[in-house]
Amino acid sequence: MSKRAAAALVAGAMVAVLTACGSGGGGGSAGKGSGHKLVVGFSQVGAESGWRTANTKSIQESAKKAGVELKFSDAQQKQENQIKAIRSFIQQKVDVIAFSPVVESGWDTVLKEAKDAHIPVILTDRAVDSKDESLYVSFLGSDFVEEGKKAGDWLVKEYQGKPGDVNVVQLEGTTGSAPANDRKSGFADAVKGEPKFKVVASQTGDFTRAKGKEVMQAFLKSQPKIDVLYAHNDDMALGAIQAIEEAGKKPGTDIRIVSVDGVKDAFTAMSQGKINYDVECNPLLGDQLMDLVKKVKAGESVPRRIKTEEGAFTPEQATAALPNRQY
Ligand code: AHR
Repeated sequence: MSKRAAAALVAGAMVAVLTACGSGGGGGSAGKGSGHKLVVGFSQVGAESGWRTANTKSIQESAKKAGVELKFSDAQQKQENQIKAIRSFIQQKVDVIAFSPVVESGWDTVLKEAKDAHIPVILTDRAVDSKDESLYVSFLGSDFVEEGKKAGDWLVKEYQGKPGDVNVVQLEGTTGSAPANDRKSGFADAVKGEPKFKVVASQTGDFTRAKGKEVMQAFLKSQPKIDVLYAHNDDMALGAIQAIEEAGKKPGTDIRIVSVDGVKDAFTAMSQGKINYDVECNPLLGDQLMDLVKKVKAGESVPRRIKTEEGAFTPEQATAALPNRQY
């Protein structure tokens, strides 16, 4: 047996175990042969944030509701794990592969393997930067550039007519990921006309609370004056809030905070005056994804790009929305 075949077998076993443990399971044998159930292999980024947990739950629940067998694999934020999972899905001859790519580049080879095996691929949440559009059938998810732009527009408005430099520190998402790249560029674009906004430090916090706290602690030590924190997601903002409080400062007042996601914990922090603006990124993609899967399998044409509808919240709006917030 070749090394590659052996590796694929190991990966196959890994996904089979995950399937048995996950909510979409069915023991691995309840596929096309036994009940003509649609089988979807789904490779998730990981469990790095509250947003991600809500996204996983949405996809697993929607699959169940739609009668789709979901082979769920958690990549623990590693591209190599996603590639292994996709190869395993190909080997298992699933009907459709869906995945949220941890980073944007480096997918062409494995996506070509899926294409050669005639298994359609749907991108969900995050995009790939492949030039070959035939490697996937559709991309369902947010417009991350627009999200960054909304955060920047808020900042410009907030400091309109106020003199003096505004020192901004930025907590970036996972390096190389679509949301980190796009939220950074959207924000930069929105503030570029106003030289008073200075991004004095910018570093990745990998979309996690722990890293957000750690990097914010470093920012607080190295930067003599921080006016604003722009966090690429709520978990990093929440970690940073702990660091700010431990440094004896008031988040939302001494350091104003603009973040992205709109999860419940952030809305609670907003109701306490600790976050000043939150741009929504909707994780509830499960129903739309299952609809797409069914259409693709039925040979219907689907849009290449489906953008998620999203808003943005002031503290007052977040406080009002909190009792009914689903995630
Ligand atoms: O891809 C979506 C982003 O990934 C969310 O903003 C973040 O919370 C998650 O980890």
